[in-house]
Amino acid sequence: MSDYKVAVIVGSNRRGSINRKLAEALVKLGTAGLAFSFVRIDDLPMYNPDLEVDRPAVVRRFTDEIAASDAVLFVMPEHNRSLPAVLKNAIDWGSKPADKNVWRDKPVAITGTTPGAIGTAVGQQHLRQVLGILGAVVAGGEAYLTFKPDLIGPDGTIANEGTRAFLAAYLENFAGLVRKLAPR
Ligand code: FNR
Repeated sequence: MSDYKVAVIVGSNRRGSINRKLAEALVKLGTAGLAFSFVRIDDLPMYNPDLEVDRPAVVRRFTDEIAASDAVLFVMPEHNRSLPAVLKNAIDWGSKPADKNVWRDKPVAITGTTPGAIGTAVGQQHLRQVLGILGAVVAGGEAYLTFKPDLIGPDGTIANEGTRAFLAAYLENFAGLVRKLAPR
């Protein structure tokens, strides 16, 4: 059977984003049965209902990519103890019009990193709440990562064996949810 398609959304538009590095390292873990592809959000205009009369092509590209995915992995920093505006903006575009909400019934997983001590925990709770309201099914478990320069090695993989095993198990659990929920 072919792999499930998982869209990876990095909740940062910063060049050199530590969350993009983390996302790339997560993909390198090579979770069996999941095929990851990165979906851009940094080119989306600010949500404005006035644009709904003729949605910009970049917005249609974004929502088409999410709709065609079996699942979504969010990897994001925390901004002022919430999800970054660039990510909220993308989620808002995907939520409208309500009968075409791309998040409904979508299995999703959330993680993220920050130099801060609590590893994006509060921001992740906000994201869970938003996604829950939209009908996404958030995978169980929690993965809060305090970023240290040695989190990711020069080869782009998770350097610490224990952290690598923890994240591999986190994604394995997500894969189990995807297998249960994604249509085949
Ligand atoms: C931050 N940062 C931050 N960190 C944190 O742990 N909790 C927070 O609430 C915030 N708030 C916050 C607000 C704003 C506007 C910025 C720009 C930054 C710091 C943030 O974690 C740090 O910049 C990371 O490097 C962001 O991740 P990316 O963009 O490198 O992936």
